[in-house]
Amino acid sequence: MKRLQIVVLSALVGGVFACGGGEPSQESSTSGDAPKSMVSEEPAATNDGTGVGEIKNVELANPLDQAMVKEGEGIYDMKCSACHKITDERVVGPGWASITKRRKPEWIMNMITNVDVMLAEDPEAQKLLEECLTRMPNQNVSVTEARSILEFMRSNDGEK
Ligand code: HEC
Repeated sequence: MKRLQIVVLSALVGGVFACGGGEPSQESSTSGDAPKSMVSEEPAATNDGTGVGEIKNVELANPLDQAMVKEGEGIYDMKCSACHKITDERVVGPGWASITKRRKPEWIMNMITNVDVMLAEDPEAQKLLEECLTRMPNQNVSVTEARSILEFMRSNDGEK
């Protein structure tokens, strides 16, 4: 996480330099437009609704994988139910009803496995933090477990 912050920071600093305005020198004529294009590509990662993290593409099983649903429910009972209901009622965190209609599967899994970075960088996660006023703690959930939780959520949302 430290490293990511440094990357983001240096991107920001790079952006400041690229936008220039500071010292007029001969350098500005030679550094030309290259830095500008770098800056414009910067936000792409967070703007497609998949969130920030290693999960880029989730293949959804159809029909649902019932073994995964069951495993997901078990993890939910142990690690998530203190803060999340499966209705639309908010406890500490938002209720999970219809979450799979509101969010992309990739976003949900990144939120579960990479919550600290999501809260630092993803605008949707930050909105939730503003509403809930509590940071969701990292639950040490593996990608495989997160996939099962997603399947449990899909089942909860009425998918078969
Ligand atoms: C200590 C309370 C707590 C626990 C335990 C917890 N969460 Fe959260 N969760 C939150 C809060 C609070 C938010 C809203 C974001 C924020 O404020 O950090 C959230 C948000 C989420 C979201 C996004 C919800 C939405 O509406 O988009 C998902 C998905 C999620 N949590 C999954 C999980 C999973 C899976 C577990 C169990 C492995 C879990 N959470 C355990 C507090 C918790």
